[in-house]
Amino acid sequence: MSIEGKVVIVTGGTSGIGEGCVRHFAQVGAKVVAASIQQDEGEALADELGNVDFVYTDVSDEAQVKALIDGTLALHGRIDACASNAGAWRQGKVTDFKEADWDLIMGVNVKGNLYLAKYLAPVFEEQGKGVFVITTSVAAFIGFPEHALYCMSKAALDALVRCLTTDHPGYMRTVAICPGTIDTPMLAATAAGWTAPLEELYEDIALKIPVRRLGQPEDVAKAAAFLMSDDAGYVAGTSLFLEGGTMGLPPW
Ligand SMILES: NC(=O)c1ccc[n+]([C@@H]2O[C@H](COP(=O)([O-])OP(=O)(O)OC[C@H]3O[C@@H](n4cnc5c(N)ncnc54)[C@H](O)[C@@H]3O)[C@@H](O)[C@H]2O)c1
Repeated sequence: MSIEGKVVIVTGGTSGIGEGCVRHFAQVGAKVVAASIQQDEGEALADELGNVDFVYTDVSDEAQVKALIDGTLALHGRIDACASNAGAWRQGKVTDFKEADWDLIMGVNVKGNLYLAKYLAPVFEEQGKGVFVITTSVAAFIGFPEHALYCMSKAALDALVRCLTTDHPGYMRTVAICPGTIDTPMLAATAAGWTAPLEELYEDIALKIPVRRLGQPEDVAKAAAFLMSDDAGYVAGTSLFLEGGTMGLPPW
């Protein structure tokens, strides 16, 4: 299940799940290119870990995504895999949304992955293989209260994973990781307005999860490393649910 020596791009690689991926992949010997819109955090992470490069990339900007792919090829000569974690989130019902919310959420979550796929596919075709792992969400399948736009964006990615698998067979393996409740800054942000200490909320949530804990970024990172490895060579066009068993709960 090794990704040792593989060249791996991690978008959203400077916070939460993406940062967990960068740390884990670097630890197991991958050559990591971390990308995000957090310049200071990216430079600090690259300095700390050594075998990591940071490339400032707004994934909603096509030219910047192309530059990330070209820059990685210039650095390492190939790209074995990409773990796409960059994500944006807004709370609200459809009646609350403004066009700017649509542009942000769809720009980062949907267009960002479209652009990554667009520029990764030819590289993978030329190389004969490559893996694209997209972090979606259980929000693709659940109507989270007041998260309509986010849920829509993640559902679109579930379709994208299947389409990429159909359209680029033989050389591009695309898989979704579908996390539930992962302990990250984004999760903490969703609790804004919560008056009790965050730990109390998290303890309460953990009791509702069949494995009785929140997920950690390393949980996602380890799953992503497996999916990128040659041992996962027959896994394509599908979602790995990583939600501590919550999707199997009865609806009452
Ligand atoms: N935390 C959870 O419980 C959870 C559950 C399911 C899915 N997810 C998904 O996992 C992914 C990572 O989320 P997280 O919880 O680690 O959040 P986070 O807020 O900790 O990290 C998000 C990362 O995305 C980057 N980013 C935001 N906009 C960007 C842009 N335009 N271009 C490039 N990078 C950008 C940020 O700089 C940051 O590094 C997201 O796609 C999120 O939707 C999270």
